[in-house]
Amino acid sequence: MANFFLYVNSNMAKQKNIFVCRNCGANAPKWIGKCPACGEWNTYEEEVLENKTDTKRLHASGNETKAKPLLLSEVKSEGEKRIRMPGTEFNRVLGGGMVPGSLVLIGGEPGIGKSTLMLQTALRLVKTRTLYVSGEESLNQIKLRATRIENGNNDNCYFLSETSLENIFVHIKSLQPQLVIIDSIQTLYTDKAESSPGTITQIRECTAYLLRYAKESNTPVVLIGHITKEGSIAGPKLLEHIVDTVLQFEGDRYHVYRLLRAIKNRFGSTSELGIYEMQNIGLREVVNPSEMLLSQSEETVSGVAVAANMEGARPLLIEIQALVATAAYGTPQRSATGFDMRRLSMLLAVLEKRAGFRLSSKDVFLNVAGGLKIDDPASDLSVICSILSSDQDLAIKKGACFAGEVGLSGEIRPVTRIEQRISEAQKLGFSKIFISKYNRKGTDFSKFTIQIEFVAKVEEVFEKLFR
Ligand code: TYD
Ligand code: MG
Repeated sequence: MANFFLYVNSNMAKQKNIFVCRNCGANAPKWIGKCPACGEWNTYEEEVLENKTDTKRLHASGNETKAKPLLLSEVKSEGEKRIRMPGTEFNRVLGGGMVPGSLVLIGGEPGIGKSTLMLQTALRLVKTRTLYVSGEESLNQIKLRATRIENGNNDNCYFLSETSLENIFVHIKSLQPQLVIIDSIQTLYTDKAESSPGTITQIRECTAYLLRYAKESNTPVVLIGHITKEGSIAGPKLLEHIVDTVLQFEGDRYHVYRLLRAIKNRFGSTSELGIYEMQNIGLREVVNPSEMLLSQSEETVSGVAVAANMEGARPLLIEIQALVATAAYGTPQRSATGFDMRRLSMLLAVLEKRAGFRLSSKDVFLNVAGGLKIDDPASDLSVICSILSSDQDLAIKKGACFAGEVGLSGEIRPVTRIEQRISEAQKLGFSKIFISKYNRKGTDFSKFTIQIEFVAKVEEVFEKLFR
């Protein structure tokens, strides 16, 4: 009896239909209207799963493997030969250049500048034979854009407008490129899968094929992928597991700054960040971001405070603006741009309950300069200072900046990498920085010339700033 079940089960497992969410890759045995994992509606698609694991083969093929277990000391280390990308920012985010045979995914919302970034990179790589495959734009469109952003011609950069994976590989075979760029993975299709381009099956098949090509030929492949408004890479959440490196290109479309962030990197750190400015001649690297993010006006206005933040491993001084006004209608409005709304509510509650500021009947608007989104907890202190400054209509003196997390009882908590933050503030000519008293331990502050104010409570900051 037991044998009979085994037989039936292994036969039945050969072909199976499942439903996969196009947005996040979650799957279910039945079609569902709303994905329980990501909450999107109408994203489930049917997919045929061919189960190739045959129990018999598993046991029989045991002696056919070529690889054998090794000690690390036995593994020959091949010196890393990275392909240096043009521009320091891109190299920094990749961890020092592109690793041969790596598969890199660049995600970002439509229109943020992914194609521009890769086109610019391809055109500047004069020593590397590059194939830029575009499934979205015609060669004519690419040429128009290329002549606008780069006037130098590159004899080593080839362009192909194609969406069929099989056709692309015909050209890859004859061209033997040293770098392949695919714009975008969502437009590719392979004859091996039946569904239409952009579906999860197609994306997965094409990526798997490109991955094999990258590893076997030792050629780096860059995939461009669109992400949804919610921030996940559309369709292929799965892709993030397959590829070696995931870079995210983000920013506000209506602002000029763009951040290139490493979310996953098998060959480097994920705390790296590249900063660009979108101009009419393409993307320009921003070498000293803090200087650009601070307003240059000499006038002091109330409601403005500067946060000494860290974005990944980079210190960044960012201006935070707040406007506090008596609510015109019954329910006061709270709005935040570039800052977490719930965190703002929490900080307002702390000010109300722990420090006795009456803000519950007031509108509070918060804005982060440059269209950036910040989530460093160290920005808390500057957020509350900008709110208090606007509420009291007292300007914070020029030259002051802040780095501290605010706890639920109104205490100012220590933050990481305090020395880096202080150095950056000092370098930019700030005269005073407010930090947590608890950051004092283990750091030698005597080397700084900037004045350091240690604070432990919200009221204390208020006293020091405005009294
Ligand atoms: P694009 O690279 O096409 O975005 P993506 O590939 O991520 O969809 O760039 C889109 C935007 O960038 C476009 O709306 C116009 C703007 N842009 C400039 O401002 N300056 C430029 O030199 C270029 C090429 C684009
Ligand atoms: Mg594009």
